[in-house]
Amino acid sequence: MQRRSRMLENCVGLIFALTFSAAHAAPDAAALYQAHCAACHGSDRFGAIGPALLPDNLGRLGKAGAQAVIRDGRAGTKMRAFKSALDDDSIKALAAYVTAPPATAPVWGRAQIEASRVLTPEPAATKPVYSADPLNLFVVVEGGDHHVSIVDGDSFAPLYRFASRFALHGGPKFTPDGRYVFFSSRDGWVTKFDLWTLKVTAEIRAGLNSRNIALSKDGRHVAVANYLPDTLVILSSVDLSVEKILDVADRNGKASRVSAVYQAPPRDSFVVALKDAPEIWEISTAAQGEPFTLRRIALTTPLDDFFFDPAYLHVLGAHQAGDKAIVVDLDSGEEVATLPLPGMPHLGSGISWTRDGHVVMATPHLKDGRISVIDTTDWKLIAEIPTPGPGYFLRSHDNTPYAWADSSLSPQHRDEISIIDKQSLTLVRTLKPAPGKATAHVEFDRSGKHALVSVMEKDGALIVYDAVTFQEIKRLPMSKPIGKYNVYNKITFSQGTSH
Ligand code: HEC
Repeated sequence: MQRRSRMLENCVGLIFALTFSAAHAAPDAAALYQAHCAACHGSDRFGAIGPALLPDNLGRLGKAGAQAVIRDGRAGTKMRAFKSALDDDSIKALAAYVTAPPATAPVWGRAQIEASRVLTPEPAATKPVYSADPLNLFVVVEGGDHHVSIVDGDSFAPLYRFASRFALHGGPKFTPDGRYVFFSSRDGWVTKFDLWTLKVTAEIRAGLNSRNIALSKDGRHVAVANYLPDTLVILSSVDLSVEKILDVADRNGKASRVSAVYQAPPRDSFVVALKDAPEIWEISTAAQGEPFTLRRIALTTPLDDFFFDPAYLHVLGAHQAGDKAIVVDLDSGEEVATLPLPGMPHLGSGISWTRDGHVVMATPHLKDGRISVIDTTDWKLIAEIPTPGPGYFLRSHDNTPYAWADSSLSPQHRDEISIIDKQSLTLVRTLKPAPGKATAHVEFDRSGKHALVSVMEKDGALIVYDAVTFQEIKRLPMSKPIGKYNVYNKITFSQGTSH
């Protein structure tokens, strides 16, 4: 009874607040949020059936983007249009509210992480439930309607499709035997999926805003890089239980976001890029000795977005100014070279191959139509290959003489794929699979004979090319296929793809 009357009181208060604000003053965004949005996005804005509405999570959408979504909704989703229910001022106030930090700092510690874990154990399986080669599957992340498709890498027939968490990113990661794949979502969810039984077996929310995940060399641990809170969370890959939470701060105690975490197989460690601290962290994943011991490598400046040489002796890190990269010797911890790379290199998409007996690495740029090629023996820039425009990705395979690059960040050339000869470093062909539509992210099949290309629009497609003749073989409709990952190429750490 008492509870009911309190509820009634709250309701009356809310109605009063809403009426009052509409008639006399600036809208009370917090009250509007609780009345219209909290049911789906959580009263704490951490998300529920709708995504989290926190500034880091909404970064790319921005205030204007948020306003548009609130006004017009998102067709085909539970996010309806509020333009008939709320006036312009209220919509503006709500957009400002959800893109600003909450009044009290969000808490997401061990208790909250552990409470979020969901296990759905499956009966033991001795083989896959399909006849396709389980190591030549493609895992395709469809960002348009938040689904994942599993595609047979020999017949290119879709095998299965399931709803994912909102906004997967960072690239899924596979256990060394290729059986399990782990996904991370923008809002901090980690999902474990069994590629034999085609079932989600475990999920946990390791953070409120996450960047990516990495698996340890032995496949037993999953590390999660968080932006919110400032933590690196290490989970058991068996059941996603929490093994360790590292509060991330520099040696003086100043907290830092985590840009990314990488697996360094020859070192048996995780290497961690910090957003706000001039340090690289290396965390041991060796089975012997004290688990997860931390080594700090001091830098002169924060570096994020890493590329490793194939032996994992050096890391090339992007300077946050976007005009150079610094090479760090991971054993000595010394900065051994600085490379001028204007145009914002996207080192995380870098690939390597052998040319004239030297291992070279190549990187696209987010602001320039250029592929930079670097000799990893002396870290000298050996070529700048012009492309029609800036792009995100570069891909190849040991069995093909070509590397494929997109120009998807160029308004005029977003539909072009450039094919580059890895020895002569020249452009040999331009493809335009879907004129006018953003096209990017190439991935090869296990054999290297086929290249899969994404048309990254809501009514997009996955296009299979013969990687020798450049003829189109098949076109599968997909909802904004932002990435595709071949199990074999990922678990063998093929030099032609990123990790
Ligand atoms: C019935 C549930 C529901 C309600 C009520 C609701 N939303 Fe949403 N909202 C969603 C869902 C689901 C999505 C994700 C849509 C998609 O798939 O893109 C979403 C997306 C959004 C996004 C875009 C997030 C992103 O990262 O792209 C914003 C901003 C947003 N909602 C704000 C609001 C605000 C403000 C309110 C209250 C006025 C509100 N929503 C009410 C379910 C809801």
